[in-house]
Amino acid sequence: MDDYEEKYHKQKRLTDQLMHALAKVADECGNYTKDHSERVALYSMEIARRLGKSRAEQYEIYQMGLLHDIGKIGVPDTITGKADNLADKEYDMMKRHPMIGAKILQNINELPGLAVGARWHHERYDGQGYPDALAGEDIPEEARIIAIADAYDAMSSQRNYSSVMGQQYVRTEIEKGKGTQFDPVIADVLLEMIDSDVDYVMNSETSLLVIREFFEILD
Ligand SMILES: [Fe+2]
Repeated sequence: MDDYEEKYHKQKRLTDQLMHALAKVADECGNYTKDHSERVALYSMEIARRLGKSRAEQYEIYQMGLLHDIGKIGVPDTITGKADNLADKEYDMMKRHPMIGAKILQNINELPGLAVGARWHHERYDGQGYPDALAGEDIPEEARIIAIADAYDAMSSQRNYSSVMGQQYVRTEIEKGKGTQFDPVIADVLLEMIDSDVDYVMNSETSLLVIREFFEILD
C-alpha cells in the first residue's frame, strides 16, 4: 500500500469513528439506553438487506440510523431525560428534534440521506406523525425503515423507567401498527426477523457484537 492509499483508508476509518462518536452524542441525550442509535442502525440495515437493497444502500441506511436522533442535542435534558409522560409544551419541544437534526446534517452533501433520516424518522404511515405529517410512500423509504427499527428498539430496551418488554408483546405491537404507524411491507419484514429470532437476541441486553453476529454482518 502506498502513502496515498494508506491515507485514504485512514480517512475512511476516521469517518466511521466520527459517525459512531456522533451516535454516542445522541445516545447521551435523555433516557435512551446505551447504544440505542447503533442498534437502530443495525436493525435498519438488516431490514434493508431483506428488502433486497444493495450493499451500498444497506450501508447508507446503517449510517442514517446512527445519526437519526442527533437533533436531541438541541432539546433540554430535563425533557429528553424525563421518565414519565411529557406535558404538552414539553412534548412540543421534544418534537423539534427531527428538524434540529436535519439542520445539523443539512450540509453533508456527500450523504444527503443523513438529513433525510433525521427529519422524517417520526413520520407515520397514516400521516399522523411529525414534523411534516407525510403519509405512505411520500415518506422516504429509508425513513420508514428507521422509524420501525426505532420503535422496535424503544420497546425492546431497558430504560430507567421500564424493563425490556417480552418478545411476544413487542411482536403484537408491531403487528398492531401495520398500516397505521408503520409501512405494512416493512412491518412484515421486521415480523419475519422477530420470528427468526427464537432466542430473543434483538434487545438492548444483548451486546452489539452478538447482534452483529446474529445478522452475520461482515465488516
Ligand atoms: Fe427520534
